[in-house]
Amino acid sequence: MKVLVVFYSMYGHVHRLAEAVAEGARSVKGAEVELRRVPETLPREVLEKMGALEAQKTFAHVPICTVDELGAADAIIFGTPTRFGNMCGQMRQFLDATGQLWMKGALVGKAGSVFASSATQHGGQESTILSFHITLLHHGMVVVGLPYAFQGQMRVDEITGGSPYGASTIAGTRGERTPTENEIEAARFQGKHVATIASKLAR
Ligand SMILES: Cc1cc2nc3c(=O)[nH]c(=O)nc-3n(C[C@H](O)[C@H](O)[C@H](O)COP(=O)(O)O)c2cc1C
Repeated sequence: MKVLVVFYSMYGHVHRLAEAVAEGARSVKGAEVELRRVPETLPREVLEKMGALEAQKTFAHVPICTVDELGAADAIIFGTPTRFGNMCGQMRQFLDATGQLWMKGALVGKAGSVFASSATQHGGQESTILSFHITLLHHGMVVVGLPYAFQGQMRVDEITGGSPYGASTIAGTRGERTPTENEIEAARFQGKHVATIASKLAR
């Protein structure tokens, strides 16, 4: 059973969550889990101005995802930073190249799930995940979220990302906040949950 964790990250927050999602998925018996990133679309000069070059070096070793790899997976868990309440353009561009898969119905019946990051607490994590689900549904995927069985999303004693739609983190307006233990736990839970459902679907 193949689980693919596909992400875009500019400053590393989504990458950190992606690692936790992969860790959770790997804890399910029979799961072969691969981490992939989608291609960068911004020119180097723009990335430099955005202060992203150093951070991006820390996950440059993660292989770039191919469209064929999506077709070969049993479950795909996508991670994206928020851009004006939606997924980032890099992820959108990657998904817009999956028309061939759609034509063949290659993702129909596979588990699909989304996690996210935003700079501010109410900056659009939920809208990013929910609007991403539309693409998954067009592909015929079985959308999987983060159930309240992950009790960490009920906490009010600290500021935390995470909702029934998926794990998320708050990066801070200068990217100064790193994912908290609770947010990492949510990501692990989501990875394990998706892989468990995928193994049931594969049977
Ligand atoms: C063009 C652009 C639009 C953004 N829009 C939002 C937004 O609507 N709400 C928000 O809270 N953060 C917004 N952000 C901040 C990013 O979501 C934040 O940098 C990201 O979640 C950090 O994750 P990363 O380190 O994995 O890139 C935006 C950033 C950029 C560059």
